[in-house]
Amino acid sequence: MSESVDYFGDDTAIFNDKELLQVSHLPDGDRIIGREDELRRLGTALRPALNGNTPNNIFLYGKTGTGKSLCTKFISRQMMQRAGRNDVNAGFAYIDCLQDSTETQVVQSIAAQLNDEERSGTTIPEQGISTSMYYNRLWTVLESMYDVAIIILDEVDKLEGIGDKSGDTAGDNLLMNLSRANEAGKIDDCNLGVIGISNKIRYKDELNERVKSSLCERDYVFPPYDATQLREILESRRDAFVDGVLETDVIPKVAALAAREHGDARKAIDVLRFAGEVAEEERESVVRDEHVDVAQDREGANRISELISKQPPHARYVLLALASQVQQSNEEDPEIPNKVVQHSYRQICEQMDSEPLKERRVRDLLTELEFLDLIKQDQRGRGRGKGKHTVNSLYDEPKLVIQACQNDF
Ligand SMILES: Nc1ncnc2c1ncn2[C@@H]1O[C@H](COP(=O)(O)OP(=O)(O)O)[C@@H](O)[C@H]1O
Ligand SMILES: [Mg+2]
Repeated sequence: MSESVDYFGDDTAIFNDKELLQVSHLPDGDRIIGREDELRRLGTALRPALNGNTPNNIFLYGKTGTGKSLCTKFISRQMMQRAGRNDVNAGFAYIDCLQDSTETQVVQSIAAQLNDEERSGTTIPEQGISTSMYYNRLWTVLESMYDVAIIILDEVDKLEGIGDKSGDTAGDNLLMNLSRANEAGKIDDCNLGVIGISNKIRYKDELNERVKSSLCERDYVFPPYDATQLREILESRRDAFVDGVLETDVIPKVAALAAREHGDARKAIDVLRFAGEVAEEERESVVRDEHVDVAQDREGANRISELISKQPPHARYVLLALASQVQQSNEEDPEIPNKVVQHSYRQICEQMDSEPLKERRVRDLLTELEFLDLIKQDQRGRGRGKGKHTVNSLYDEPKLVIQACQNDF
């Protein structure tokens, strides 16, 4: 090995502050772009909280990467500060239901985030007490410490037992208990507001009527970003790069592609970061147009493989079966019926020398893939009296999906 070769490359050539391109990075208020109306509406709904009164429960929905989580956290922090200036004790808890998905976990996590042992005189153990005891402690924390509190349930559709046909209603219970805590007399001195967030546009229809009417006092849709907004969002993170390394058409190109395909700010930011990394790998001193093309594919492949890597092998076969059918189709936006996926899946199993799963199980796997936003499912009628059947389609290019599925074979 030669000492004179620098295997690490020069890490300051392209990036200046890569942190600005991380998903976890929260831009300041003045860097939240194109969401003036949404922030104003959220502000109006939460406004009673500034004086310690009950804010409206809010339900937010819209596709991924439209700024829902960002704007909600931002407005909640602002609410807390403004209320503080009015001598109102306000707080908020933020729950990612993808991580905390059971009723007990959610209640534990809310209580733990809001609690200050010295002021409430109660502790919130990580585990070991019953759900109803967690509720009681949460009510104690709220009563003893806060005039008003906001609970943000992000990706609320990932809660277990919501509108569940199997009869598990834990998620419904949770939403009822939180959104009606004041009405039900669980708490008196503290006013509670709930903000539910979902990436699924149709999710509201799945909620039971009682939950819907209390949780969705106000509901707002976050639309996808257009090219101009995406351009500004990316521009505001230009400082992530060394001055002058981005060729002029790089940001407009990333923005245009993202607007055309999805309007998702997260994906657009990822593509910009990947473009920088591609240039870096190629030891170039500027980021160019061509790097964006490579980055675009890399973003898609990366996201899909990350999601699919946590799935069992047969989920991968099922996705591969769907993707190859989409690829073979001549239609513009192919929708592949379950039956066709099943057939293709069995062929793949044969090639892989693996015993195929039962039809029912394959159907379940498709539903799980939809849950992960890897595929879209829709119902199509076959005409009167003939019942409905399910069709499947992809969000991404079939080529990318196939590559990602084959990665670990
Ligand atoms: N209007 C915006 N201005 C600046 N950055 C944004 C904006 N909207 C989203 N982002 C960035 O894009 C990413 C995804 O936003 P997020 O709020 O998590 O979307 P959602 O919750 O709708 O999926 C985050 O990294 C966020 O910082
Ligand atoms: Mg989010």
